[in-house]
Order: sequence, then structure tokens, then C-alpha cells
Amino acid sequence: MSILVTGGTGYIGSHTVCELIQNGYEVVVIDNFSNSKRQVLTSIYEITGVKPTFYEGDVADITLLEEIFTKEKIDAVIHFAGFKAVGESVKEPLKYYQNNLESTLHLLAVMQKYHCQKFIFSSSATVYGDPASLPITEDFPLSTTNPYGTTKLMIEQILKDLYQVDPTMNITILRYFNPIGSEKSGRLGEDPNGIPNNLMPYIVRVATGKLPQLNVFGNDYDTKDGTGVRDYIHVVDLAKGHVKALDKLDAGLHIYNLGTGTGYSVLDIVKTFERVNYVSIPYQIVARRPGDIAACYADVTKAKKELGWQAELSIEDMCLDAYHYIEQANKRAD
Ligand code: NAD
Ligand code: UFG
Repeated sequence: MSILVTGGTGYIGSHTVCELIQNGYEVVVIDNFSNSKRQVLTSIYEITGVKPTFYEGDVADITLLEEIFTKEKIDAVIHFAGFKAVGESVKEPLKYYQNNLESTLHLLAVMQKYHCQKFIFSSSATVYGDPASLPITEDFPLSTTNPYGTTKLMIEQILKDLYQVDPTMNITILRYFNPIGSEKSGRLGEDPNGIPNNLMPYIVRVATGKLPQLNVFGNDYDTKDGTGVRDYIHVVDLAKGHVKALDKLDAGLHIYNLGTGTGYSVLDIVKTFERVNYVSIPYQIVARRPGDIAACYADVTKAKKELGWQAELSIEDMCLDAYHYIEQANKRAD
């Protein structure tokens, strides 16, 4: 079975490509390297012993998509490609609407033309907005607070509308909670350009001395220690969730939370990172970050019951592997 993975050299996509290959799937990747590096293809080969067929280009490029669907026998698509920085989406909304929506619309149109009916979409816990209670089940009300989140919500709606007119389609929407960590060898991971927005990449920069200290955004939330609580999930567990979703992909539109079901505070993460990696993470408490919510974690019952999937790796694994990747990446750069 041949799977087209859009955004397959990105952080979650590259880990998923490895899991797919290791589970016997043939993989075709399209990426324009707008937020990833060509080196990732070599890393995938080193990890799996397989070079996925690769097309460099934009998912919004219909001519390129037609070339792929003509040359390759694509059975299913996993669609990761898109921009994902919340703050940037507030400053440059058109860039986000254009890239995330146009690429998805063009991809779905070409899939329709080539009678490809299996589609897995990367959505996000951000579509739950500020949840009224916890844990969050898939039927919670949806809302967003930024253009990035709105693109996810709009694409979910597009998929629901498409399914209405074609109930033979197999669509799975996966709502990720907070992916962190890296695969064990340290060849793939997350190392964003510029100053990181997300907690774990920021902590890693502090650990390696590239940033002086972590700014903890608020300690006056209604949580156990006042800092924000999130459902961090190891990216390898998340990648395995995609393989399970693909294995189970059948007629229908299905939605699953992919998280661990456990919430950890910012200070939990800092302390765990320090303990397992034997490093110090100096921090200061600063004002809340606008748009942040107090707490967010998943009810993962549905994925466990219907996909036979649940996260297995611990918060210690996540902290160890995130640091290991950067140490390896820094060694490779020397
Ligand atoms: P990423 O930026 O590392 O990967 C996205 C990849 O898509 C990159 O390699 C980028 O070069 C590519 N890309 C972007 N637009 C493209 C286009 N038009 N054509 C071709 N390639 C394009 O991001 P990620 O963390 O791996 O996230 C993957 C998906 O999961 C995204 O859709 C993201 O919104 C979603 N998601 C991520 C998180 C998270 O915290 N990382 C949480 C929830 C949902
Ligand atoms: N935080 C800090 N300091 C930092 C960065 C983050 O204290 O320098 C705190 C935040 O306030 C929050 C927690 O760490 O309490 C996690 O923040 P992240 O930025 O790592 O993650 P978010 O939950 O804000 O958002 C992420 C992605 C979104 C996605 C969401 C749910 O950035 O795109 O997870 O999947 F939608």
C-alpha cells in the first residue's frame, strides 16, 4: 500500500514516515522545505534503510500533485503540510489561510480526480479553544482564538462537507495534543529556526546554553502550581497513532484525540527535564502569554477503544529524547 505523506520531512511527518516504513508501507513524500531540511531524508534512510520516493514542491501545486498521482499508485494520503506557528498566524493571517487552506483544497480536488478516498488529517487540540471542563472528549464544542486554529477548524468543516456528499470516503481527523521528544537515535527531532515559541524547544535551548533562562508564562492559573498544564505526547507515540489510524481506515469520518490523557504543568516539565538530563534550567516567572489557556488534556478513550492505540512513552522519555536529539545535532554540526 502506497501512502502520500505531505509535509513528510517536518517534525511529526518525518517520525511518521519512519513508522510507516517500519510497518511495511510504501511511502511517497512531498515537502517544499519551508520548515524542514533536506538532511531529514538522509536521516530517514539511516533509521529505516529505505529512501522514500520524494517530490520537492508545494502541495498547492496542482500540476505537481497530478504528476504524483499519475506516476505513483497512491492508496491513501496523510496530510501534515501546513504552517503551525500560532503567534505568526495572528500577525500574518493571510499567509496561514492561503497556505493551509489552498494546499488542502488542491490536494482534495486532485485526490477526487484520481479516485483516492483515504485521507488522514493533522488537526490540533487548539480547535477546542478554552475547554469548559477536562478531560476533553472529541464531542466537545469547537472554537478557536487565532488564524492558525481557524484554518484547522475550517479544514475539519471542509472534510465534513465533503463526506456529506461522498459517504464512501474514508476520512480520519487526528487532534494532536502537545507533541514533544524525538526518536531514539537522535537523528530526527525538533529544532525550530529563531527563538522557539513552544516550551520544550525553548527548554532545550536553555539546557544547551543558547538561551539564558526560560520565561514561564504565568504562575497564577488555577492549576496545581499555578503554571499552564498540557497533555504532552511523545512524537513517536503520535507517529504510531497514525499507523494505527491508517490500519483501521474504513468508510466514514472519524475523529480522535491523540494525547496521553495526563496533564503536566510547565514546572513539572522543567523539573523532570533537569532530573533526567542532569542539567539546570534557570527560569523566571513572567506575565501570562496572551491567548494561553490554563489547562488542556485529552480523554483518550476513543482512540484506545477504536484504534487499539495508546501512548506508551513517559514524560521522562520525552525529556530525555528531546535533549538527546539536540546534543546529537550539535555534535553533527561541529
Ligand atoms: P512542521 O512545520 O515541522 O512540518 C510541516 C512540514 O510541512 C514542513 O516540513 C514544511 O516544510 C512542510 N510544508 C508546509 N507547507 C507546505 C506546502 N504548502 N507544501 C509542501 N510542504 C509544506 O510541523 P509539525 O510539527 O510536523 O506539524 C505537522 C502538522 O501537525 C501541521 O499541520 C501542524 O499544524 C499539525 N500540528 C502540530 C502540532 C505541534 O505542536 N507540532 C500540534 C497540533 C497539530
Ligand atoms: N510556555 C512557557 N514558556 C515558553 C513557552 C511556553 O511558560 O517559553 C508555557 C505555555 O504558557 C503553556 C505551555 O508552556 O502553558 C505549553 O506551551 P506551548 O507553546 O509549548 O504549547 P501550546 O499548548 O501553547 O500550543 C501547542 C502548539 C499549538 C497546538 C497546541 C495543541 O503550539 O499549535 O499545542 O496541540 F495547537
